[in-house]
Order: sequence, then C-alpha cells, then structure tokens
Amino acid sequence: MCGIVGYVGFREAYPVLVKGLHRLEYRGYDSAGVALVNGNALNIYKTKGKVSRLERFAETQNVGGNIGIAHTRWATHGEPNDVNAHPHCSESGTLAIIHNGIVENYAVLKAALVENGYTFRSCTDTEVMVQLIEYVRSSNGCTLLEALQIALRQVVGAYAIALIDKNDPDRILAARRSSPLVVGLGNDEYFLASDATPIVEYTDKVVYIDDGEIAVIDRGKPLRVVNFDNVESTFDVRRLEMSICQLEKGSYPHFMLKEIFEQPSTIRDCIRGRINIEADRVTLSGAFDNRERFLAAQRIVIVACGTSWHAALIGEYLIEEMCRIPVEVEYASEFRYRNPVIHNSDVVIDLSQSGETADTLAAVELAKSKGAFIFGVCNAVGSSIPRATDSGAYIHVGPEIGVASTKAFTGQVTVLAMLALTLAREKGSIDREQYIATIRHLVQLPQLIEGALKLDGQIRELSKIFTYARNFLYLGRGYNYPVALEGALKLKEISYIHAEGYPAAEMKHGPIALIDNEMPIIVIATADSLYDKTVSNIEEIKARGGRVVAIVSEGDTVVRGIADYVLEVPQAPEPASCIVSTIPLQLLAYYIAVNKGRNVDQPRNLAKSVTVE
Ligand code: M6R
Repeated sequence: MCGIVGYVGFREAYPVLVKGLHRLEYRGYDSAGVALVNGNALNIYKTKGKVSRLERFAETQNVGGNIGIAHTRWATHGEPNDVNAHPHCSESGTLAIIHNGIVENYAVLKAALVENGYTFRSCTDTEVMVQLIEYVRSSNGCTLLEALQIALRQVVGAYAIALIDKNDPDRILAARRSSPLVVGLGNDEYFLASDATPIVEYTDKVVYIDDGEIAVIDRGKPLRVVNFDNVESTFDVRRLEMSICQLEKGSYPHFMLKEIFEQPSTIRDCIRGRINIEADRVTLSGAFDNRERFLAAQRIVIVACGTSWHAALIGEYLIEEMCRIPVEVEYASEFRYRNPVIHNSDVVIDLSQSGETADTLAAVELAKSKGAFIFGVCNAVGSSIPRATDSGAYIHVGPEIGVASTKAFTGQVTVLAMLALTLAREKGSIDREQYIATIRHLVQLPQLIEGALKLDGQIRELSKIFTYARNFLYLGRGYNYPVALEGALKLKEISYIHAEGYPAAEMKHGPIALIDNEMPIIVIATADSLYDKTVSNIEEIKARGGRVVAIVSEGDTVVRGIADYVLEVPQAPEPASCIVSTIPLQLLAYYIAVNKGRNVDQPRNLAKSVTVE
C-alpha cells in the first residue's frame, strides 16, 4: 500500500512524478503529495483525495524543479487528511520524506524526539522517521547518508522511503526494508518507484533494491547502493519486459473490464513455451528442475491471501488429484502467526499476484527459516516474493491494475495446473490419456474463455435485475467451490454488496435459512462429476422460493428447466472448466458495480498491493 515515486535529472520533475502517481494509484488513493526542490526552495504540495485533486491544487502553484519525490497514500497511522498526506517535512523544513510501510516502534522514537524538543504536525509514523534523521544529523554533525544509516538501524518495521534535502538539490536517498523499491536508470536521469510502472515509459533499465539497502542517487553520477553499515553492494541492471499499452485502459472504461477481456491472450502468454502441443508435453521448468524436492515432499503447503488463496484451493484439488501428494492451503496471515509445524521436507508454494503481499512474504521467510523448499507463483516480475523464494514460476499475465484481481486468478490456476501435470508425469501418478486430455484443454482455454466472454451483453442486462439486492450467495462444488468464493469476493469488493461463497452441499447446514426471494443465489452447475448433486442443491433452493442464476455448460437442459436465469459457458473438463466458469462471475460483479456507480478500479478502503499486515 502507498506508492512512492522520485525523479532527478534534466526534465521538469513534476509531470514525471504526477504521471507516476497515476500509475501507482492502485496502491492507495486516499491522499497524494509531491515535494520539489527548486533553487533553494523546498516546495511541498499535498492534499486529501486522489492524484487528480492534487493536480488541480498544484495548477496554481510553482511546480518547477528537476528533482522531486511524490506519494499516493493508503492510510495506516492517522486519518486521510491534508496534514497526514506525504511528503513529510523535518522540523527545520530542510528534509522531505515519502514512505510506504509501517514504523512499528514509532511511538517510542516519537517520545524520545519530543523530549528533545521536536514537535509533530501529523499523526503519521513517517514524520517520526524524517525528524529522527534530522535529529541524528544535527546531533552527530554527520552527513545525511550517515544520519539515514544510523536512523534506520533504530527503526523497526517495513519501509520503502525516499528522502531529499533542499540544500542538496542533486541527490535522492532511497532505502527499503520489506517494501518494494525500484530505481530506473535513464541517460543522465534517474527514476525511483514502488514498481516499474512509472518508469517503463522513460527507460527499460532498472535495479531492484534489496532489503537493508540504500540507493544513493546523484544527478550525473553512477548509481551507488550501500547497506546500513555503508558497505557497497553490487547490483544487477535488469531489462523491463513491460509495455506502456499494458498500463493503459485503451478503449475500455475500466482496467477491470480490460483485464477480464484480456484473458484469452493472457492465458496464451501463460502457457507459451511451457506446453508443447506437438509432443503433448507440459514442462513448468521451475518445478521440473526441482522435481526431486517436490516428489520427496511429505506434503505441499500453499500460502496466499484473497483471490490468490482461492486459486490455491483449486491448486490443492489439482495436485492431490494428479500427484497424490497431500496439500494444505493456508491464509498467509494465519500461517505466519500460528506457529505452524513445518518440516524441512515440506514444499511451500507462495501464491501472489503482486509478489509484495506482506503476510505472504512473511510466510516465505518463516517457512525458509524452518528449511522448507519455497516455490513462488507470482505475476509481478522482480517483486519481493520471487526474489525471496528458492524457485518459482511467473504467471505472465501482464500488469494487473484493477484492484479486483481477474486475469491473475485465471493465470494462477493455469500455472498450478501446469505444475500439477509436470509433477504428475514425473511421478507417474497420472495416466497418459488424462495427461494428454488435460494439456489439450489447457491449450484450448483461450478459445473457451472467448466463448464465455460472449455472455457480456446478456450479463450486462441480467445485472440490472440484481443491482439493488442486499445479499448474494454463491454456491459451487468440487473445483467450483473456490470459484464460488471468488465470485462472492469480486462482488463484495467492487459493489460493496454482502456476498458469501459456500460449498453447495454445506448450504443445508446453515445458509439455507437465509433463502428467500430477495437474495439471488448464483450456482455454478457445469457438466462435471458433481453435476447431479449440484442440480439437487438447486432443487432445494427452488423448493424454498430462492432465485437462482445458474452457470451451466452449453446445451444444458435440466438446470435451464429449474433455475430462474442461466448463463451458458463452453463445455470443458476440469481444470479448464472452473477457469471458464469464473468469467461470467467477473462480468456480473463488474456490471453490478458499474450500475451502482462504484469506483470499480479503485474500490473504497482497498489497495492492490497489501504491503502492510
Ligand atoms: O498480490 P496478492 O495476490 O498477494 O494479493 C492478495 C490479495 O490482496 C488480493 O487477491 C485481493 O484479495 C484482491 N483485491 C482480490 O480481488
């Protein structure tokens, strides 16, 4: 949460910073601000609200200068208001800082600073950092870099920060611990940001800063990276593979809709080079290269949050079915704090779109410390989780910008299916016929998804009937149970309607009491091995006057005769089928949220990348 951007070079900094903030707004959008050094002035403009509000405010201000830092906030300490917005300034007005993360010991540090005569304007933990740095510098008579190093040794918590000094208009210092930080290397200019999206338009050369490192970014000089003890670190310059059109909405009204419609091509990208259809062979190299470790595992634990956790549940079904290895799926936030039993023979799979989710990252560290083998399945290339794991696989679906995850979910399930197939073949636990059939259906997924996307118009109309429903129930069985959970989450997060996902057969153990003709019940009833049982569940709902929207396979006649509304998706066996069934649920949530006038891409209180616990 929170996005940080910085620039030093020959251009006007303000346009670069504001454009960067727009790109990072998915990370938090309750306030925004910018600090620019111009001549010997440090100009700070900040306001509650979105980046566009900051822009309107700054129109009448002096935004000149070719060095600056900027921030878009997701509030942790202190309500979203103008004062708590970043950048924060030191007591003397010389230093300005932006911060993504949480300073856990801020209260102790603040009390000590107050005793030393410092006053605070905001309620943030970030202001404590900048005051501490200034205090260390003035009391030790040291350089800003030395003061930063000393101060950061006292700070407990997570941070990516950028710091400027109005008396040194050629330098930005940026440091990280547990929050992401990327430096872009241009010709005679530098960019820094929470991820590469604000940078890609200017340069494709980037350096990912590691935990415990400080980037010393000087105009006209080579980048230096040092640790808190001032030891120089070597670093790799990476090439970005991102393109600008991936970061723009194109002709779509929202990123979410664009990302839903991108799924045929993102799945193609996801399987490219991994499935060889001529040879009927799938090889997920990260898993194949470590097959001994996987196949020797007593169990596999998959840790994730939110939508990624739903994909993990499908992964559990797939791996257990094809590989006959026991799998447990854990919420990362529970796993990391409940003292779990982890053996060094375990394989822990960390599933995360952003690769930055704080709880999932902490789960990686915990499992690693117990000797488990860690495999990451992520989307954001170069993010923290892939860099902390032993091996892994990217899902390659391109940047996902809508806060509601769509194409990442289908990409994650596809990668987990390829992982299960790779291991099952090596283990000999899958028969050749099933292996080949599953591969062929994965290859057909883009066309199958295209078929499901044809429901767009029908779902747009259907959504009008349900816009004002106050509660929804989503039901599914087997592979479609996690799909039901995912459908409910999509609706909740972007429309703010209460929705619950449930295994269809569990309905009679409680939720059946909720059924009336007010609450729409979405049932995934595609033609699979549990179809007849799901049909019985629909009968149970109808017998109690419930209203059913059923997702069925093309040609279905039975459910059509019982349900109130049906949405037909192309027929496919698992796991392709559960990916296809997800598409109408994404569209339904999208159109209901649009009908309600919600901010689909930036729903209230949420952020795309949850880098705080
Ligand atoms: O980046 P991650 O996959 O680790 O994110 C996990 C969740 O925060 C994320 O899936 C969240 O639930 C989404 N907003 C769901 O649409």
